[in-house]
Amino acid sequence: MENDTLQLRTATLTDDAELARMNASAWTPEIEVVPAEGPDKPFFADYRRVEDVIVAADGDTLAGFAHLARHIRIPKNDHVLHLNSLVVAPGQRGRGISHRLVDAAVEEARRRGARKLGLRALSTNKVAVELYRQHGFVEEGRLREEFRQPDGGWADDVWMALFL
Ligand SMILES: CC(C)(COP(=O)(O)OP(=O)(O)OC[C@H]1O[C@@H](n2cnc3c(N)ncnc32)[C@H](O)[C@@H]1OP(=O)(O)O)[C@@H](O)C(=O)NCCC(=O)NCCS
Repeated sequence: MENDTLQLRTATLTDDAELARMNASAWTPEIEVVPAEGPDKPFFADYRRVEDVIVAADGDTLAGFAHLARHIRIPKNDHVLHLNSLVVAPGQRGRGISHRLVDAAVEEARRRGARKLGLRALSTNKVAVELYRQHGFVEEGRLREEFRQPDGGWADDVWMALFL
């Protein structure tokens, strides 16, 4: 793996524009749920705080990010975090960067005291589902045929989780 120069760190506000561009280029109609945001829209927002984003940086270039967040903001759900988004820049895929980002997200969830790290993926996103399985996430349930796909087919909304 040629990832010797890769560094995982918490995002900073100066990453905003590059993350917005990466996010806008990362999703295709087959794997997105909500249509991708345009590259000019600010990346950080109330629902995506800078301190909740882990970036993989290769020198001055950002290669990917993971966004951790609360799923249901009520005290009874304090022990659960969600991996809301995981992206590797299209030109950086196939280098194992996603493994480093998932490891970092799991480590950060543990550091924050979470008992469980959840996520959702489309059943048609085979790469993501297999990646998460390799890291020990198991399917907890699925909403069948929840999303219509561009080719007229259907995708299940798969809920997965890792107990920490
Ligand atoms: C999902 C994503 C982060 C994976 O990053 P990547 O750099 O492409 O992943 P890699 O090529 O390093 O492969 C990581 C793992 O994915 C799985 N994978 C990769 N290609 C696969 C394929 N063709 N079929 C099934 N699983 C595959 C494997 O588990 C692989 O691990 P391994 O190579 O050690 O066996 C990246 O494709 C991406 O950003 N996609 C768009 C956004 C997205 O779908 N995010 C997840 C939403 S839930």
